Amino acid sequence: MTRVLLAIGLTVITFALTQSANTKTSAMPKEAMTTTTMSDQDSSIDNNADVDVIAVMNACNESYRIEMAYLESLNESGSFIDENDKTPKCFIRCVFENVGIVSEDGMQLNPARAAVIFAGQRNGKPMDDIGDMTALCAADRQETCPCDRAYKFIRCLMSMEIERYEKS
Ligand SMILES: *[C@@H]1O[C@H](CO)[C@@H](O)[C@H](O)[C@H]1NC(C)=O
Ligand SMILES: *[C@@H]1O[C@H](CO)[C@@H](O)[C@H](O)[C@H]1NC(C)=O
Repeated sequence: MTRVLLAIGLTVITFALTQSANTKTSAMPKEAMTTTTMSDQDSSIDNNADVDVIAVMNACNESYRIEMAYLESLNESGSFIDENDKTPKCFIRCVFENVGIVSEDGMQLNPARAAVIFAGQRNGKPMDDIGDMTALCAADRQETCPCDRAYKFIRCLMSMEIERYEKS
């Protein structure tokens, strides 16, 4: 589970994990460290997120089950395979709230914090415009449902990352 989530954290959601890996080396199986190395080409490995994203994702998956396929399709296509399913959207909201990307009521997005969490590389290229992308995606969000709002933000961000980094 940890290894799986680690791989997702690194390659799908591009959350920051190096710090988590560094501070939790003793708790992490060697295999997981290998995964980190193998997948770091499209991952975020160099940021300062002072939060245990893996633990947050584990906890949120308890309350809001999300299948790996959803995160994979988010990574590869920019959106979920099924956008009518509310639970995986609430997983995103849950993660966002617990890493400080969105306020407790789910309405106030923090693009600066999102830029810290999502900082890193994609397709082997450092995303030096991550702050620009999170700001664009946080601006003028119309969704009133917190889960949908969080999902639309990450959909915007992943789509933009794909557009800017995978297609050039
Ligand atoms: C969430 O938990 C379920 C049940 O344990 C598991 O099948 C699924 O892969 C987990 N999701 C992720 C993204 O690891
Ligand atoms: C995420 O997407 C990139 C680009 O398409 C791909 O190289 C990588 O293997 C994907 N990672 C996962 C875990 O699906």
